[in-house]
Amino acid sequence: MKSDLVKFREILAQLPFDKYWQIGVDTGCLLKSTIIKNKYCRALEVGTSCGYSALWLIEGLSAQEKASLDCIESHKERNTLAKNNIALVCPPNVECNVHLAHAPGCFESFDRPNYDFVFVDATKSQSVAIFEALYPCLNKGGTIFIDNVLSHIEKMQPFIDYLMKNKISYKLHKIDAGLIEVKKD
Ligand SMILES: C[S@@+](CC[C@H](N)C(=O)[O-])C[C@H]1O[C@@H](n2cnc3c(N)ncnc32)[C@H](O)[C@@H]1O
Repeated sequence: MKSDLVKFREILAQLPFDKYWQIGVDTGCLLKSTIIKNKYCRALEVGTSCGYSALWLIEGLSAQEKASLDCIESHKERNTLAKNNIALVCPPNVECNVHLAHAPGCFESFDRPNYDFVFVDATKSQSVAIFEALYPCLNKGGTIFIDNVLSHIEKMQPFIDYLMKNKISYKLHKIDAGLIEVKKD
């Protein structure tokens, strides 16, 4: 039987894509299964829109006894929408905070604990700066995913070049908009 979270997420998937840019189902499954497989319990999302992808992360995190998710969304109305949507179905063992902030500038004042898992689905041209700000906050064994590598290949090329130049190993997932996965050893 589907949980309320899954049922509500399916409703959010029907919202217009050209307004909320929800991730694909394959991407959601990949993010959720990575969290569950690694027993991650502290996660961060940059670019939350209406909260659709956050609900995939929350479903994965809810497998742990206690977990937390920080969401960063800079657009005021989408931020409020995400807050309300997430509050409706977030299970009590996952503490989710939706921050009205813009990355990477916000990280100067943002209290960043160490994260196990980071999902970046925000301004493509700022991927290098966002990655540089967040990679040091990633725990050993943690994973960071960056979306839209294939759908926005031109804007994402500097990020791929950055990873190669810095000899940071990554895996390209050729699903939906294309994601890069970096695991911190
Ligand atoms: C592609 S949408 C995110 C879709 C969402 N992850 C989902 O699948 O449901 C990108 C969102 O990131 C927000 N955004 C873009 N750049 C940002 C930044 N630098 N900091 C915070 N939010 C940002 C935009 O306002 C937009 O709502």
